[in-house]
Amino acid sequence: MTRIGILIGSTRPGRRAEQVARWVHERAADRGDAEFEVIDLLDHPLPHLDEPLPALAGRYQHEHTRTWARTIARFDGFVMVTPEYNASVPGVLKNAFDYLYAQWTHKAVGIVSYGARGGTHAARQLRALCELLQMGVVAPQVSLSLHTDFQDHATLKPGTHHVSALDTLLDHVVTRSRERSATPTQREADEAAIRRHIDRVIDAIHAKDLDGLRRLYSTDVVSFDIDPPLQHTGIDAKLKNWANVFTFLKDVTYEVRNLTSTVGEDVAFTHGFGRLSGTLLDGTAGGGMWVRVTFCFRKIEGEWLITHDQVSVPLDITGGKGITDLEP
Ligand SMILES: Cc1cc2nc3c(=O)[nH]c(=O)nc-3n(C[C@H](O)[C@H](O)[C@H](O)COP(=O)(O)O)c2cc1C
Repeated sequence: MTRIGILIGSTRPGRRAEQVARWVHERAADRGDAEFEVIDLLDHPLPHLDEPLPALAGRYQHEHTRTWARTIARFDGFVMVTPEYNASVPGVLKNAFDYLYAQWTHKAVGIVSYGARGGTHAARQLRALCELLQMGVVAPQVSLSLHTDFQDHATLKPGTHHVSALDTLLDHVVTRSRERSATPTQREADEAAIRRHIDRVIDAIHAKDLDGLRRLYSTDVVSFDIDPPLQHTGIDAKLKNWANVFTFLKDVTYEVRNLTSTVGEDVAFTHGFGRLSGTLLDGTAGGGMWVRVTFCFRKIEGEWLITHDQVSVPLDITGGKGITDLEP
């Protein structure tokens, strides 16, 4: 289910923000087309930004930042409830934005503002800030006036036109958030591509398809394969190893277990366990030992290729021999 966070942009004692957020939440909760949750900055007491690296780097040093990042990452879209302070958003809200980057980007956002004249200056600044973060700010907006939408300037009593404006805003936020949650992020697409790549390695081994394998490695691949020498450099050396296996075994099976991938923009690595087995030419079973395997990838001209692999077994230090009977 699509998840939308309703962020309370004020932490001031006696804040009106809580009433506004509650009104948004109650109206949203009736819809049933998304899950809505209030995010209260009082529950995330962030000091003035104290991360040494800009959020764009994505390497958060402090636990309070990591907790905040995990909170925001859970949502597909947001409704920002902001008052106007000195023609802008409250510092506490700006600070909460500044802490993160990737957790905001490409997510939908709708703005509900309030102030003497609807908090429109704050809304305009918040719109610009969200656009800078590459968020999808929806056009419909709700602007509540302290004079006409709060009884005695204290208790929220929004005009009926604001209720329909809020419904329209929520329609847009939900639609855009759903589009986003249905579209895989670049990272998700890359992770799937890496998994498919390993499946193609397995298929090519089963088919003894050397041409197919050639297409899966870079030409300058450096392989730390299980057999000597210390390294096999270049695609021809790598394929020579596979050709040896294919001569040795009549039918070949390659299994992998516990594969874990870490995928960056143009570099990725995957580690797990692999077992090569099959039937020897005389019909007896051959191979069958589990090894540790690491594939390292680079994205070259838009295509992921294995540029390095490493295959090993643990060493019995005292006996100086590899241990070949371990199971994952
Ligand atoms: C420091 C401060 C500055 C303010 N500046 C403006 C302003 O520029 N324009 C405006 O319409 N209201 C302004 N207000 C009024 C607030 O919008 C109003 O008090 C609102 O209720 C504040 O939100 P909160 O109660 O949720 O903290 C200001 C209030 C504060 C506390």
